Amino acid sequence: MNIEEIFSNNKKWIKDRLHIDENYFKNLSSGQNPEILYIGCSDSRVSAEELMGVQPGEVFVHRNIANMVPNTDLNVMSVINYAVSHLKVKHVVICGHYYCGGVKAAMQSEDLGILNPWLRNIRDVYRLHKSELDIIVCKDEKYNRLVELNVQEQCVNVLKTADVQKALLEKCITVHGWVFDIHSGELIDLKIDFEKILEDIREIYRLH
Ligand code: CO
Repeated sequence: MNIEEIFSNNKKWIKDRLHIDENYFKNLSSGQNPEILYIGCSDSRVSAEELMGVQPGEVFVHRNIANMVPNTDLNVMSVINYAVSHLKVKHVVICGHYYCGGVKAAMQSEDLGILNPWLRNIRDVYRLHKSELDIIVCKDEKYNRLVELNVQEQCVNVLKTADVQKALLEKCITVHGWVFDIHSGELIDLKIDFEKILEDIREIYRLH
């Protein structure tokens, strides 16, 4: 891609937006009120807004390798705090995707340097669900199941945060686990049973 092209694309985009609504940027600059916090993978093929069909201002987005929510990552923890406690989003979405390079790398026994501590969080998900994953013979199936289980465990990490626990008590937030299927373009709701998960973990992680 020619970098210059990006700036001409931008000029065209401004023109198109103003053609539809001459106050578009005036309204956009007046503030944001998104109802969704989306935490997804940095993968260039999984563009948050485009796959959901949403406009600027509608979704607060955080992306990193393999859509992780490590408990000690100041970046994602700050995003959750700001989105939940200040922007008061109504939904938190963890969106993984099949054929995720980060998840694949974590399944291989390779020293990847600075990526090791990050990918270790995914290896921990594998360890937690080893009995289920070990009986899956097909490699692709096992890989994609780990993608789903990783989404589930990152949702659990979201539920462990003080901000989300508080919002849950006030019944003003819902957590969702989704997977984007790159092969079909389909967005799949994993329909994770958070009531059951919360029942199991509340005793240990409760902060309120
Ligand atoms: Co990915």
